[in-house]
Amino acid sequence: MTRILAIETSCDETAIAVVEGAPDRVRVLSNVVSSQISIHAEWGGVVPHIASREHAANIEHVFAQAIHDAGVSFPSDIDAIAVTYGPGLGPALVIGLTFAKTLAAETGLPLVGVDHMDGHIHSNWLDAERPMDAVFPILNLIVSGGHTELVTMRDHGDYEVIGETQDDAVGEAFDKVARMLGLGYPGGPAISKLAQEGNPLAFPFPQPMRDSNSFHFSYSGLKTAVLYALRDMGDALKESARADVAASFQEAAIEVLVHKTIRAAHATNAKTVLLSGGVSANKLLRERLAQRLAEEGIAHVQPLMKYTTDNAAMIGAAGYFKFMKGATTPWDALSMQPNLTLGETAQDTLQSASTHAS
Ligand code: KG4
Ligand code: ZN
Repeated sequence: MTRILAIETSCDETAIAVVEGAPDRVRVLSNVVSSQISIHAEWGGVVPHIASREHAANIEHVFAQAIHDAGVSFPSDIDAIAVTYGPGLGPALVIGLTFAKTLAAETGLPLVGVDHMDGHIHSNWLDAERPMDAVFPILNLIVSGGHTELVTMRDHGDYEVIGETQDDAVGEAFDKVARMLGLGYPGGPAISKLAQEGNPLAFPFPQPMRDSNSFHFSYSGLKTAVLYALRDMGDALKESARADVAASFQEAAIEVLVHKTIRAAHATNAKTVLLSGGVSANKLLRERLAQRLAEEGIAHVQPLMKYTTDNAAMIGAAGYFKFMKGATTPWDALSMQPNLTLGETAQDTLQSASTHAS
């Protein structure tokens, strides 16, 4: 058994986990997440220097809790330390990275740098109940507050981004529309709750780039359409139409994701489609994507709900596979990369893939 201590501080969660890896599943021994959401909610979004300060104040305690919950001894029961080194907020990333590097320097344990998005992908391996038998090539739909990406995966660590948002991420659109509706931060859970009482067909909001040739996304036009619809309503109407607006926005946002994912799965001959990222907690997305992929006969895996939003267990899962490939970095050589990407968008592959799609 290979045990990984994993550390994640790329945004507003101070998270440390201990996981135990095997090729077909990663067992979670502990998964501590100290959320700063209530602190940032006051500002309507994450404030980097406040996130940094909170990570610094909490990380020692979160570490002690994670080791305690796992029932292991540190460092003797641990084989490697995995840490998120990007993408994310620089002032936030640097706290987890410095903590991990300090532990590695002190103990001599190998250090594995993990891409946060690689972590989200590997949240799909975190399930003690089922073996993870996803067949390559895999297509990943990664949807979070900062990213909306379609990523092909030929093996662990072998990625190509074939589509990404040209402006806002889908989670960001949920957060912004929630603010317009006075729902607070984070907006995703609040919108989907309100949407349950609304009619998804009440407002025919645009589904930007749904039928474009590329696999890219755009969410700023949809967000603006919601803004204009609300601006044109009187106060009384606005109040009664809130649930309809939430449901119609959610319908447009999710339908584009599902439609493009199916098309990309065919174009890339994907054997399995994996969903991940904070927005993968969305019930409509989970249900509709599963249903359409079943109709197409394409295998599909979704992360357990508890691993959809940011956590360190997913960083441990990605770190486990990197460690098994020997992908470690000396503690004094790993530096943060706030703009890290899983792979460069190859225009030629993208074009030939979309030509085959029709
Ligand atoms: O992956 P994540 O925890 O953090 C980032 O790396 O960004 O994703 C957070 C995002 C937020 O934008 C939040 O509004 C969204 O995920 N989210 C949801 C839901 N739960 C969280 N969006 C739609 N429906 C949900 N149920
Ligand atoms: Zn995330």
